[in-house]
Amino acid sequence: MSANFSIPEGNFRGHDRQHVWHMKPDPELTEVGPGTPCGEYLRRHWMPVAMTDQVGDLPYRIRILGEDLILFREKAGKLGLVHMHCAHRNMSLEFGIIEEGGIRCSYHGWKYGTDGTILERPCEPPNSRLRKDACLGAYPVIEYQGLTFAYLGPADTMPPFPVFDTFDEDGDEMLPYLIESPCNWLQVMENAWDPFHVVYLHTKAVRTQFIDAFAELPRIEFFERPYGDFYTNTRRVGDIIWIRVHDKMLPGFTQNGGHFPVPEQSLYFGRCGLSRWITPVDDVNTMVIAWRHFREGDDPEGLTDKAQVGFGTTDFYGQGGDRDYQQRQRDPGDYDAWVSQGPINIHQREHTGYTDRGVSMVRRKLRKAIRKLQAGESVPQASFAYDGPIPSYGGDTMLEIPLQADRDDEILLQQVAQKVAAIYMASDQLSGSERVEKIRQDLRDYEESWR
Ligand code: FES
Ligand SMILES: [Fe+2]
Repeated sequence: MSANFSIPEGNFRGHDRQHVWHMKPDPELTEVGPGTPCGEYLRRHWMPVAMTDQVGDLPYRIRILGEDLILFREKAGKLGLVHMHCAHRNMSLEFGIIEEGGIRCSYHGWKYGTDGTILERPCEPPNSRLRKDACLGAYPVIEYQGLTFAYLGPADTMPPFPVFDTFDEDGDEMLPYLIESPCNWLQVMENAWDPFHVVYLHTKAVRTQFIDAFAELPRIEFFERPYGDFYTNTRRVGDIIWIRVHDKMLPGFTQNGGHFPVPEQSLYFGRCGLSRWITPVDDVNTMVIAWRHFREGDDPEGLTDKAQVGFGTTDFYGQGGDRDYQQRQRDPGDYDAWVSQGPINIHQREHTGYTDRGVSMVRRKLRKAIRKLQAGESVPQASFAYDGPIPSYGGDTMLEIPLQADRDDEILLQQVAQKVAAIYMASDQLSGSERVEKIRQDLRDYEESWR
């Protein structure tokens, strides 16, 4: 009898590599709960925690950095963010009664102000022996442009809320969105430091998810700033050198270039397509909370639909789990990349290389920042450094600089990227339209110098 199968030949090493199943995540960078080193570091920053339009007339239960919290709007309109369990006997305040000046627990009627102060204990006699210092944990919140931001750190290190130059520009309509992913925050954050996935995942893997020009491998240059970094993605498209700039600021703030740019003609300091934060829910759940920016001329080919931007959804492909599994398999997006790395990605299992230098860099920076805080140093805050809005760089510049007969184009692209970055940074001390106009003029002059 002859076998109707053949034993496959090859260098099979599954058994040799079974140790990968025992590898563990890196707690220093991934654990976000109260008292953890990374959690403490994250708690030194204002972070968005909700879309404000989700807070109605009922208490709104959320989970942030492993803490169960209740966000509510008291009857006079002020937002409060308090620990979920009533300080009396722990009933959840998601069943609380919203009143003027605070929230009341429906079990025995304790009432709390937005700062967690106990305002009333109706069932207790006047000579009650309850501790005078009892209170409910609460955090300060700010409502801004459709988002609710909170600060979960120690009250005495609360920084001013960081307002960037892109947060309130004329002619810019900002629409908030919020999308949750079932995985650790670092995976979602690192994706933004990985510019090379755009070439493959978003363009070559299956189809063009954004624009065809992303198929070209970009030159990447990183630029360090005192309170955050940016990097340039430089590509040649015909006679155009296209410098796409992404802001990256620890712990999880990013501003990317435009969403659907058309690199066909000159563009001087076009601004970012989104301003985005990564907010950890707990160790294995994460929210992206962001504004999409819509300006006249940002989407010349009409590739987007504002109506898709909102709670649980946005106007560009692959950001959430709202596609059926087969579609996700056939046409995976960012969400599928970061979620499928696992609940908490295991770095030991990776083999990182040249194109992962952004990811390696951000891990190093994050670890250093966490350790500095652990060693008693204060966390640097951009909002202390500027009186007005904080200058940022995210967006696209496109310069008409054709191939030069006597020059290696790779070197030329690098030089142009460095010059453009230098032009951006040289105007840091200016603000508002003065800064924008100065940068645009300098870019025009620089382009002209190639004619
Ligand atoms: S448990 Fe809230 S008042 Fe008693
Ligand atoms: Fe992506």
